[in-house]
Amino acid sequence: MSKGSDVRKAIADRFGDELRFFRGWIDRPKAVGSIVPTSGVTARRMASVIDTASGLPVLEVGPGTGVITRAILARGVKPEDLYAVEYSPDFVKHLRACYPRVHVIEGDAFNLDHTLGTDAPQTFDSVISGVPLLNFPIEARIGYLEGLLRRVPAGRPVIQLTYGPRSPIPPGHGDYTVEHFDFVIRNIPPTQLWVYRRAKH
Ligand SMILES: C[S@@+](CC[C@H](N)C(=O)[O-])C[C@H]1O[C@@H](n2cnc3c(N)ncnc32)[C@H](O)[C@@H]1O
Repeated sequence: MSKGSDVRKAIADRFGDELRFFRGWIDRPKAVGSIVPTSGVTARRMASVIDTASGLPVLEVGPGTGVITRAILARGVKPEDLYAVEYSPDFVKHLRACYPRVHVIEGDAFNLDHTLGTDAPQTFDSVISGVPLLNFPIEARIGYLEGLLRRVPAGRPVIQLTYGPRSPIPPGHGDYTVEHFDFVIRNIPPTQLWVYRRAKH
């Protein structure tokens, strides 16, 4: 393939992703939460919390068109060791086509015992979450976090992106710590990253 057609393909891929994402937002604005996918900078920052030497798989929640999925794989996680839970059947179809070896699971991340099926008892190294939590009531957000923290060892992170100024899950509602991880200006809109961990007793 010529250099020119490589560039054209890269541009088509990039805008294809954004168009697909925008269509998802038109169909379900609250669930998709943003009109453009997360930037590569944010995706890499989120993936940086993964301990690739842990020998455990990684759980991604709300992968959308797969920007963060790509960063997780680039970090060195084997596709077979990545489980991605996505609600939208359109995004699921796209993810399965792009990442055939990743475990792409269609379903609700607020009900992981059901959604993960036979993989429900699995322990993960860490969780990378892009689900737009601000669109859910606080009790549901806390239940969501607890469902994720049960699946990682004590002390290992659940990282969450959000566009609000504060942690979408307030401290003091359970056995978890809340840590501001980063503010990424190179994202539309600029995004805050928060890390939650279960305390080691
Ligand atoms: C803000 S988008 C983020 C997409 C992608 N991770 C990114 O950063 O570009 C939120 C994603 O979470 C998915 N989502 C929303 N609610 C969900 C749920 N209850 N269970 C699983 N996925 C959900 C949406 O379909 C969408 O793909």
